[in-house]
Amino acid sequence: MLVTGASNGIGRETAITLAKEGHKVIIHGRNAERTQAVYDEIAELVDENNVDQYIADLSLKSEVKKLADNIKSKYKQLDVLINNAGGQFGKYREVTSEGHEKTMAINIIAPFLLTYELLDILKESHSARVVTVSSSSYSMSGQAPLNDIELEHNYSMAKAYAYSKRYIIWIMKHFPKLVYQKGIDNITFNITEPGSADTGLGRVSTQDTYMKYLYKLWKPMMWSTEKAAATNIYLATSPNVEGVTGKFFGNKKEKRIKPKYYSVEAENIIWDYCMNVTEKFRNLKCSY
Ligand SMILES: NC(=O)c1ccc[n+]([C@@H]2O[C@H](COP(=O)([O-])OP(=O)(O)OC[C@H]3O[C@@H](n4cnc5c(N)ncnc54)[C@H](OP(=O)(O)O)[C@@H]3O)[C@@H](O)[C@H]2O)c1
Repeated sequence: MLVTGASNGIGRETAITLAKEGHKVIIHGRNAERTQAVYDEIAELVDENNVDQYIADLSLKSEVKKLADNIKSKYKQLDVLINNAGGQFGKYREVTSEGHEKTMAINIIAPFLLTYELLDILKESHSARVVTVSSSSYSMSGQAPLNDIELEHNYSMAKAYAYSKRYIIWIMKHFPKLVYQKGIDNITFNITEPGSADTGLGRVSTQDTYMKYLYKLWKPMMWSTEKAAATNIYLATSPNVEGVTGKFFGNKKEKRIKPKYYSVEAENIIWDYCMNVTEKFRNLKCSY
């Protein structure tokens, strides 16, 4: 089972719990030291052969591709992919060296590309599950500008985060259609919202004094990382959700996506956008 963004917060908790439950866990992080610390923590608890680690900056498509290639060269089968890594940025729009707005790069382009590139080994599993972490923020900030997906105009931290978490729901609702078309029937794709937990997520966005104040007020209401990780673990392992696909879950229960924030047309626009911007980074030999 591969967990991205396992060096901190909800991903760390998810990976440790899965390892304790006896699953072989591959952890991913972007920072070698932080990732090694979680690796060591898991290796203390379980057989060292049951944990592995990879480093990649998921804001870059080139690194997402390299991560997928490295994993595929070592593992011929993947049972669970948990797209957990995510980020939130500050007041001003930041762009990666590949030209993408950072929130969109990490929260939609990376999970899209990683999932796409790992289909080869997910389809080798008897029954594979892709679990992707979104957020209840998906319904904030009003209608999204589908003619300006990366918010070159009217960027704000709140919009970038909310729209990215909305778009990734659409992407993960589209994957079941893709695999169905290709005759692959062993992979499910579901989305989680983990509630609100005190993690590293607000590291950049709460540098602003007002946001820092709001965060302090909200902190007592936040969930533990154990509770926030519970829906990831449920979707990755529970027999109750065997065969369930394209659904949105919170607190281990299926939740309805507000119809105002979903349409098949909008889903297709975001899917095509991700296909286009990742064209050079998708394996040409891959027939999907
Ligand atoms: N906490 C909440 O209340 C909340 C609510 C709704 C949704 N979520 C979602 O839950 C997921 C986990 O977040 P969290 O709250 O646990 O936050 P976190 O503590 O900041 O963990 C995020 C993880 O993603 C990694 N990451 C961030 N940017 C990356 C990049 N460019 N490349 C590779 N890895 C990167 C982080 O690595 P580093 O250790 O190097 O920072 C960390 O391992 C995210 O998708 C987040 O949007 C969280």
